[in-house]
Amino acid sequence: MKYLFCNWKMYVGLEESRALAAELAGMPFDKSAMAVAVFPTALSFSSVRGELNGSEVKMGAQNVAWTPSGAYTGALSAVLFAEAGAEYALVGHSERRHVFGETETAVHNKLVACLDAGLIPVLCIGETREDREEDKRSYRLQKQLKTALEGVDIQGPCMVSYEPVWAIGTGDACLPSDAEDVIGFIKMELRLYTQTDIPVLYGGSVNPGNVANYMHCQSIAGVLVGGASAKADSLAALVAHVDAAA
Ligand code: PGA
Repeated sequence: MKYLFCNWKMYVGLEESRALAAELAGMPFDKSAMAVAVFPTALSFSSVRGELNGSEVKMGAQNVAWTPSGAYTGALSAVLFAEAGAEYALVGHSERRHVFGETETAVHNKLVACLDAGLIPVLCIGETREDREEDKRSYRLQKQLKTALEGVDIQGPCMVSYEPVWAIGTGDACLPSDAEDVIGFIKMELRLYTQTDIPVLYGGSVNPGNVANYMHCQSIAGVLVGGASAKADSLAALVAHVDAAA
């Protein structure tokens, strides 16, 4: 199974999200070989769900709270997203870590909250440019995996996305061969925490022009795409390329 996950971030509003979802619902792809999921804003969630109704496209949360319910003004829990039709949730996306100051403990707690609510967490990990320059890539990835996964009983499905921070939204995508090596390393590290096979995606400046190169790498289970997934023409091209490679 190859995965195309579309993180619409805060790029598109209600009407545009609905229109994108309507187009996506009509795009042909081989459902037995490829899984597609969109991560719209929370405000667009139910409209997008309405458009995707009857299609094979799944939905996910961009961010969840670490606790299921209570007096938490402005927060949205994994339980609420599950009730709204989500199957997946991004956890530890670099924008949450670096822009919103999300700690390793918060990432761990959110991952557990997703598992408890029956959502499949997509744990995002990746080194910064400084890490890379200081030869700390392995250290950073090991640390992020350890703090997120240690002590977690992973019985059900769980996913990881390798997202080098320097590659996100920069146009400076990680070379597919490099991403493949790093993902091989991540898969080895994951064995410390679970015997379950965890699909590992690549994310960071994936676009219709380079997506096929990642899909042809054996260890890369799919891609998590931001900017290029939030425009109808490039979204259609991404679906077609992943479908052709799946
Ligand atoms: P990008 O974002 O495709 O816009 O680089 C990727 C991500 O944030 O996962």
